[in-house]
Amino acid sequence: MKILDQIEDISPAISYAGLIERIEILRSTLRWSSRLERTDIDKLLRQATSLRDEVMQLSHKERFVQAAVAAEPEQRAEQSRGARRQALLERSFIFEGTFGDNPRLLESLEIAEKAAPTDLPVLIDGESGTGKELMAKVIHANGSRSDKPFISVNCGAIPDNLLESELFGHRKGAFTGAANDRKGKFESAHTGTIFLDEIGELPLAGQVKLLRVLEAHEIQRVGSDETIAVDTRIVAATNRNLRKLSEEGKFREDLFYRLSVIHVTLPPLRERRDEIPLLIAWFGDEAAGTLKRRPVRLTPRLRDFLLNYAYPGNIRELRNVMYRVSCLAGDMADIDHLPTDMRPGAPGALQGGANEAGQQPISVANLMSLSDAKRAASDDAEKAFLERGLREVNGTVAELARRIDMNRSHLQMLLKKHGLHSKDFRNRNTAASTRNGAEDRDEDDGDV
Ligand SMILES: Nc1ncnc2c1ncn2[C@@H]1O[C@H](COP(=O)(O)OP(=O)(O)OP(=O)(O)O)[C@@H](O)[C@H]1O
Ligand SMILES: [Mg+2]
Repeated sequence: MKILDQIEDISPAISYAGLIERIEILRSTLRWSSRLERTDIDKLLRQATSLRDEVMQLSHKERFVQAAVAAEPEQRAEQSRGARRQALLERSFIFEGTFGDNPRLLESLEIAEKAAPTDLPVLIDGESGTGKELMAKVIHANGSRSDKPFISVNCGAIPDNLLESELFGHRKGAFTGAANDRKGKFESAHTGTIFLDEIGELPLAGQVKLLRVLEAHEIQRVGSDETIAVDTRIVAATNRNLRKLSEEGKFREDLFYRLSVIHVTLPPLRERRDEIPLLIAWFGDEAAGTLKRRPVRLTPRLRDFLLNYAYPGNIRELRNVMYRVSCLAGDMADIDHLPTDMRPGAPGALQGGANEAGQQPISVANLMSLSDAKRAASDDAEKAFLERGLREVNGTVAELARRIDMNRSHLQMLLKKHGLHSKDFRNRNTAASTRNGAEDRDEDDGDV
């Protein structure tokens, strides 16, 4: 039967149009056949069965497409994270540090970017060591005053009796020890930016005086009646909760509102863990430059520790630790190079100690979101896969690249990302005699 043969000849590629065509051919075959032989009936049945299978397959594909569409918002969010970071860089955003695509950090950076060209006061808060001063400099550097002075004042470090003179200057003889006329910080910052660090420590008397400057844009030197106009952009920072302090009567509410026209909060490092690998590499390179040495390499166990540590001192603590291990370690740094109070089991380390696999558990409270948790799990799986692979090929990167069908430089990049070194996976007895081992020997040098 020619028409039945025709049905079988139709391409097996599944499409709705193709299926409908085949069903139509089947229908017309049945309709126009006055008599069917048993063999024809069997053939039609086989074709109907195959058609049914294909319909099932197509509907499975449809379900898959729907699942993919449902997952899309998350994928889009992932994409837009990378895109947001890229967009900031493309807009020539100046940042004297490094940043990844953590959404909370990106949000702070985007606020800073928008605030920078305006003269609006900015209040930056965040725990100690989260980068508040760096952020203040970023706001200055991205604004129209970038070529003018950036003057930093630590409000917590000035004795109460010197505060006024420090901020506004004094006339010669205004008080004992005032041997000459002196400019204060506000005058020095004229046309530029004044950074009022630790503003939460400013005593109430100082707060009143500051409020006056913010309102009138003029100052008076101690011991002088003359008013001096100052055009100064104000950026303040604190690691305290100013709103709470003002509720407790320790910080003037009106000053709080004046300072916080734009409010930027920097998340603690434990809430942007995805930035840690980047910062490790950044400070490893920075320390190497300062110490004039090659960037230190980290053992997998030290790296795991650093990725999971709680960082009560935030980025500053991570920076210090990278400088310390870069200074103390030879080629390779390990747990022993950490300060004793930071090592596993010390209070700063995450609760619970190491699990059976020797890894520090990550507290759920420290994970930012489900998608972060997924990313971390996927990173862990990727790392475990690479470690297993390297063990299997005795640390031969070229061989692993061949086996997993991956471009070798891409594989090198992934190894670097996870701090894996092919050398660590070489069996000492065989590595020297392996041709590929020799070929790989230089490949992973120089990374953190
Ligand atoms: N994203 C970053 N990239 C690189 N270095 C950073 C980053 N953020 C902060 N740092 C570095 O971390 C250190 C601490 O930052 P900074 O002094 O700005 O923190 P802080 O919040 O002002 O701390 P504190 O409250 O103790 O005064 C500095 O050496 C700074 O350069
Ligand atoms: Mg600071």
